[in-house]
Amino acid sequence: MTMHGEAPGLRGKATPVALVPRVNIQAFCELPRTAEDVRAAFADRRMARAHGTVITGGIPAAIRLYQTQSTPNLLIVESDAPRDELLTNLASLAEVCQPDTKVVVIGHMNDVILYRELIRQGVSEYIVAPIAPLHLVETIASLYRNDKAAPVGRVIAFLGARGGTGSSTIAHNCAWEIARAVDIETTIFDLDLAYGTAALNFNIDASGGILEAISQPERVDSLLLDRLLTKLGQKLSLLAGPGGVDKDFAVEAHAVETILTAMRATVPIVVVDLPNLWAPWVKFTLQHADQIVLTAEPDLASLRNAKALFDMFTVSRPNDPLPNLVLNKVGVPKRPEIPAADFAKAVGTNVAASIPFDPLSFGTALNNGRMLLDATPKVKAAEAIRKLAHDFGGDKPARPVATTSSVLKKLLALGKK
Ligand SMILES: Nc1ncnc2c1ncn2[C@@H]1O[C@H](COP(=O)(O)OP(=O)(O)OP(=O)(O)O)[C@@H](O)[C@H]1O
Ligand SMILES: [Mg+2]
Repeated sequence: MTMHGEAPGLRGKATPVALVPRVNIQAFCELPRTAEDVRAAFADRRMARAHGTVITGGIPAAIRLYQTQSTPNLLIVESDAPRDELLTNLASLAEVCQPDTKVVVIGHMNDVILYRELIRQGVSEYIVAPIAPLHLVETIASLYRNDKAAPVGRVIAFLGARGGTGSSTIAHNCAWEIARAVDIETTIFDLDLAYGTAALNFNIDASGGILEAISQPERVDSLLLDRLLTKLGQKLSLLAGPGGVDKDFAVEAHAVETILTAMRATVPIVVVDLPNLWAPWVKFTLQHADQIVLTAEPDLASLRNAKALFDMFTVSRPNDPLPNLVLNKVGVPKRPEIPAADFAKAVGTNVAASIPFDPLSFGTALNNGRMLLDATPKVKAAEAIRKLAHDFGGDKPARPVATTSSVLKKLLALGKK
């Protein structure tokens, strides 16, 4: 058994892994396969702020280099040497290592005595090769998390493959369902600043809190968020724009990032309602979301755009689940449609939900300022959206366990066998 089989958050799952802060990391690998896996980890979106370099030659190469250079924030060294030799090599490495440098060892033995000895010597973590890139990212992130048991919120970004597909309606209903039935604190972040419909759909006055947050993102913390959020229900809140076109604003990717980081620290689920426009900050938000829900109608324009987005995400988010593809407004009378199976095949995925066209139910809910799932919970469209919400809001998010103890537990379990 190796650790890599247990890495969470692989394609298809959506366990959130925290972001790695701006740290300098150097990895000294021995095997080409490990070097490749570490490079893949360094290319992961959660490592975008960190600076990672991969060097071959294992611990001896590290010792040689650091005789003349200072050590980075984090040093990762691979060794396939037996226990005693590894410990001797690490002792020599310790002599050239700055005291504030953290060290992670990638080894080739599931050995609980070795693990204990390494931790006793001040090694931060021991991982058994072959490593899964995302597991390494998670290990690194956990080294820099202040409160190891703090929950990490999950960001679910909703985007329409073109305008008017129903993406916002689905986002709001999903958020409502997650908060109500799954009983998880959920915040809707309506980033359609001028035309956003969240406040309208929930029949409340928009506070416009987003503008305050977006114009001074460095001030956003849990206190400010609390003040800006509008309560929609016991577990549901909204951060929305003022609606309207009388104010000019520019959105910067880093502002959205800062707000989302603050939200992740306070709410377990953030539902981001993205506008139908292509801007660097929209791309950035999608790129860094834990889950993407792409809503399309069964027509050609939707198909072309959905395919382009899927192709992009397949390359740019290799360690993340592909977007959930939702087909909406299926069965508009007299409208020729691309069959769901053909649509899915062309995009290269499965259809996560197929929602029938039901203007009466949607229109009535809208006019009454209620969610479809609330107003007409029994119609087919409501059933499909409810199932979608449970697919990704499903379980209460697990509180991440401090990595040290989990690795130790696994090793101890092995030791018993
Ligand atoms: N399955 C459906 N059947 C009938 N009407 C629907 C359906 N889904 C959504 N609608 C309606 O379509 C309209 C557009 O929905 P919505 O604003 O959610 O789309 P959007 O993709 O967010 O649009 P935009 O591109 O403007 O952001 C709304 O009036 C909504 O009630
Ligand atoms: Mg919308």
